[in-house]
Amino acid sequence: MLSFFLLALIAQATRFVASQQLPTNIFILAGQSNMAGRGGVINDTKTGKTTWDGIVPPQCQPNPSIFRLSADLIWVPAHEPLHADIDYNKTNGVGPGMAFANAILTEDPTIGVLGLVPCAIGGTNISQWAKGGFLYEQLVRRTQVALRSGGALRAMLWYQGESDTINREDADSYKSRLEKFFLELRSDLQYPLLPIIQVALASAEGPFTETIRETQLGIKLANVKCVDAKGLPLEPDRLHLTTPAQVQLGQTLANAFLHSPPNAIRTSSDSLSIPQKSMSISLSKLLWFLHVLLLIILPHSLANSQSPNDIFILAGQSNMAGRGGVDNGKWNGYIPPQCKSNPSILRLSGELKWEEASEPLQADIDLNKTCGIGPGMAFANGIKANDSRIRVVGLVPYAIGGTKISEWARGTRLYQELVRRAAVSVSSSGGTIRALLWYQGESDTVLEADAVAYKQKMETLIVSLRSDLNIPSLPVIQVALASGEGKYVEIVRRGQQAITLPNVKCIDAKGLHLKTDNLHLTTTSEVGLGLKFANAYISSFAHFR
Ligand SMILES: *[C@@H]1O[C@H](CO)[C@@H](O)[C@H](O)[C@H]1NC(C)=O
Ligand SMILES: *[C@@H]1O[C@H](CO)[C@@H](O)[C@H](O)[C@H]1NC(C)=O
Ligand SMILES: *[C@@H]1O[C@H](CO)[C@@H](O)[C@H](O)[C@H]1NC(C)=O
Ligand SMILES: *[C@@H]1O[C@H](CO)[C@@H](O)[C@H](O)[C@H]1NC(C)=O
Ligand SMILES: *[C@@H]1O[C@H](CO)[C@@H](O)[C@H](O)[C@H]1NC(C)=O
Repeated sequence: MLSFFLLALIAQATRFVASQQLPTNIFILAGQSNMAGRGGVINDTKTGKTTWDGIVPPQCQPNPSIFRLSADLIWVPAHEPLHADIDYNKTNGVGPGMAFANAILTEDPTIGVLGLVPCAIGGTNISQWAKGGFLYEQLVRRTQVALRSGGALRAMLWYQGESDTINREDADSYKSRLEKFFLELRSDLQYPLLPIIQVALASAEGPFTETIRETQLGIKLANVKCVDAKGLPLEPDRLHLTTPAQVQLGQTLANAFLHSPPNAIRTSSDSLSIPQKSMSISLSKLLWFLHVLLLIILPHSLANSQSPNDIFILAGQSNMAGRGGVDNGKWNGYIPPQCKSNPSILRLSGELKWEEASEPLQADIDLNKTCGIGPGMAFANGIKANDSRIRVVGLVPYAIGGTKISEWARGTRLYQELVRRAAVSVSSSGGTIRALLWYQGESDTVLEADAVAYKQKMETLIVSLRSDLNIPSLPVIQVALASGEGKYVEIVRRGQQAITLPNVKCIDAKGLHLKTDNLHLTTTSEVGLGLKFANAYISSFAHFR
């Protein structure tokens, strides 16, 4: 008997040690009471006291791979009620969080350790969640602390709105308040495309439920999805989901996250599978389906039913945008043979459509300047010539002349647009992003402080992009400068050549001929650079496929 206890104790202890890894997948849980959890909470009508019945269904049991961020901001093993120390003025019961996490682990056992960040508070209206308020600030602070352990923010689960159904004015304002909340939160967390899965109401405190539900089902922001809770069983108070209802909701949320991930970068083909356990096919799901269908059909028809398999992002400043052959604000129109168009080299236009690529590749992107020949077309022709597995190349131009590295930092307009174009390039084609080609830094040679800070800023940019694009080992080929606007060219070049992040290659442009402005590569130089890019890709990254 004693030895049995000892064994059990040792088993417990090793389990605990094994579980002492930090969460790698962070999920925010926010909203009001049905997210906090009232499943199994009973109101004794005689005493007016509420108690939780303590019943934890198998789908909501603790698991060594599920943690929660406590009110004291430390990771602890997660168990019901998840929100007890957060929504502490109320009696908490079962919510959707544990069922969600267990379903994720069952379906994707390789995903790693999950970290839940409970932030829901019962009875709160959308105005109370606005930026500047206690709820918003607590949400941002808890998430930032959660991310310090090195995990990636995977999604926010949001279930709220019951308190906004009481009068028409609040119900009518719900859409703008909700969208503002989502956008400000993404911006403050610096996750411009943070996936959000929200729940359309099952119940409400007032008469304007349908107005709120229509808003929730109709939100059209990128990477915001909605699952429908209508029809799920309610407690006798007609407001709160029962424990079995919360289990079902948790599993539906997991399904939405895994099988039609809201992150555009991974959707393309997955998104067409309709979750088997979905409770009802809502109008928004139908619209979304049509949207994806259109995105897939359109580029096909435009490109003679071809769509790119191998996608490359071309970003940076003027020498990437291309100034070859530009003189006195005019391009001479000369296209060398290495830069000729080809039906199987496409570009994503400024209007996000795939079309046959032609020089000047970045004309509708860097539109305040005159664009000429850059490295892009020579690169694309070069890799096609040397790697027969590459069929249709998709180029995603996004270089803007005269930009400093700080203008590309996460959260800036350029960064957001770069991420957006990359996301659309994948979701509209089903192709794969093979590499980022980057040529920038001339504008960081004017001030010594900029030049010295370049290496670190570039490294941060690469890490952020890899995280936001959900491609942790995205190959990057960057160029060590041939020229600069100021005198600190060598400092920037040393920074570029010293970057040692994995899968980052540096090619050297030093010595390539410059135009008379002493800043921009000639057409011949751009062709040479494009072939250097191609060689670097073929020799370092082509085996990644
Ligand atoms: C419990 O029931 C009483 C009587 O119906 C009601 O006044 C009270 O607000 C209820 N409490 C909760 C927490 O729902
Ligand atoms: C709990 O109630 C106190 C007193 O009314 C209030 O100050 C506090 O904000 C409440 N906290 C939560 C999380 O509801
Ligand atoms: C939201 O709730 C707060 C606190 O109960 C209240 O003061 C405020 O009037 C409500 N706002 C709206 C727009 O309903
Ligand atoms: C073009 O110039 C306008 C006006 O200065 C500016 O607002 C816009 O951002 C510029 N666009 C690009 C792509 O440089
Ligand atoms: C392609 O291969 C040829 C010969 O095999 C080589 O000379 C050339 O440099 C290669 N070009 C690129 C862009 O890799």
